[in-house]
Amino acid sequence: MQGKVRMDSELVVLTPATPSDGVLLSNLLELYIHDLSDIFTQLELGPDGRFGYPRLPLYFSEPDRRLAYLIRYGSRIAGFALVMRGSPAVEEVDVHDIAEFFVMRRYRRRGVGRRAATLLWQQLPGKWTVRVSEGNPAALAFWTRAVAEHTGGKATQWTRPGDPRAWRVLYFDSHEPGPG
Ligand SMILES: CC(C)(COP(=O)(O)OP(=O)(O)OC[C@H]1O[C@@H](n2cnc3c(N)ncnc32)[C@H](O)[C@@H]1OP(=O)(O)O)[C@@H](O)C(=O)NCCC(=O)NCCS
Repeated sequence: MQGKVRMDSELVVLTPATPSDGVLLSNLLELYIHDLSDIFTQLELGPDGRFGYPRLPLYFSEPDRRLAYLIRYGSRIAGFALVMRGSPAVEEVDVHDIAEFFVMRRYRRRGVGRRAATLLWQQLPGKWTVRVSEGNPAALAFWTRAVAEHTGGKATQWTRPGDPRAWRVLYFDSHEPGPG
């Protein structure tokens, strides 16, 4: 993409969210789900004008199974990542899975998502799955490239049925960094 200034990757910070970040995360989740509602047309607003994300409290009550992170650029909020231990895509307990991942529009196509994903894989080294809808071409391009670069092309890929489109599953070991 032309005309987008790369952000300084040193300023991208990934920090674990705490229960006091609950309102912040639920507000960011609304922006995220609004983006996704373009693709997943079954996502409907509730009568209060919010999509809602009922699983959010579990990220604070089940710290062994779910981890929430905030992505900042310097001191500014730039997005979030929700991670599960155990994945719906593989029969392994010791695998991390990206449940949700979001970069604010103003920071997109500037390397923020890529850097945040790398920090996540470094903080939680080991087996990972990323599940991405083939109906979300931006996310598919982002994850296939980020995973391929991080692993030097050593990820395994397959698809599983999904609505409205199949899910692409990327499975890899984040210990295996690729060249550069
Ligand atoms: C997908 C998302 C996280 C990408 O974050 P980002 O910070 O913009 O990604 P980066 O700038 O690090 O992109 C790295 C590379 O991924 C690819 N990529 C990222 N966004 C892309 C897009 N919209 N179209 C095509 N390729 C894209 C490009 O190869 C890009 O490198 P380039 O900009 O030099 O061409 C962000 O667009 C987002 O939050 N989208 C809405 C929510 C979502 O779909 N989340 C993923 C759910 S699985």
